[in-house]
Amino acid sequence: MSHSHSHPEQQPTPPMNDFSRQSWEERYKSRESVWSGRPNGVLTEEVETLEPAHALDVGCGEGADAVWLAGKGWHVTAVDLSATALARAAAHAEQAGVDSHITFTDGELDEVIANEGPWNLVSSQYTHPGQGSRWLVSTLAEAVAPGGMLLIVGHHPTDPHAADHPDLKDAAFAAEDVADVLSRDAWEVSATMRERTTYEADGRERLWRDSVLIARRHG
Ligand SMILES: C[S@@+](CC[C@H](N)C(=O)[O-])C[C@H]1O[C@@H](n2cnc3c(N)ncnc32)[C@H](O)[C@@H]1O
Repeated sequence: MSHSHSHPEQQPTPPMNDFSRQSWEERYKSRESVWSGRPNGVLTEEVETLEPAHALDVGCGEGADAVWLAGKGWHVTAVDLSATALARAAAHAEQAGVDSHITFTDGELDEVIANEGPWNLVSSQYTHPGQGSRWLVSTLAEAVAPGGMLLIVGHHPTDPHAADHPDLKDAAFAAEDVADVLSRDAWEVSATMRERTTYEADGRERLWRDSVLIARRHG
């Protein structure tokens, strides 16, 4: 069974011991691909109607979201701390003919934010950094331009999958528990739990519960 989010491939994957750079790199190296290549549903739903500008995709993995954004006309900075994931992401971007719209950066998300930006859209899809979800919200908020959108999706603590994976359970968060990091003077905030279903290779249904934090920075 795959330990992952919206669109895992069907082969088994080794368990993760932690969320460090090394464990991510080992996980990517252990398989030809970890994710399905399809963009995440919350991103496509929420961003479809936005005017394309500059986007930051943190924890971009194998690049499906960055490629989708670039195809919609966004200029994307895509950051990950796994060189293997980034190489795959860059190859996908080239295949899709959108590589000139994406800058891939190997590094920690906070270091990139300290040196670049801001962006009109900042997206984090299941990044779950070791510093925790409150840190993630406050760090990414710094990177959002006036009038821009912050979109953070992660696993909800009641996700049935989290019960089998202690690391994931520790990293999971409820969006409403981190929403207070953002001042309502500067942000319009929506914090929800969304359910979705995927299908295993054998046809079995799997229910997922995601935390979705969407915040618009006042202009
Ligand atoms: C669960 S994967 C999600 C990948 C991609 N967003 C997707 O939805 O397919 C999380 C990714 O975040 C990256 N990551 C974790 N912590 C990070 C950090 N502090 N800075 C940059 N990337 C990080 C990992 O290397 C991994 O590729």
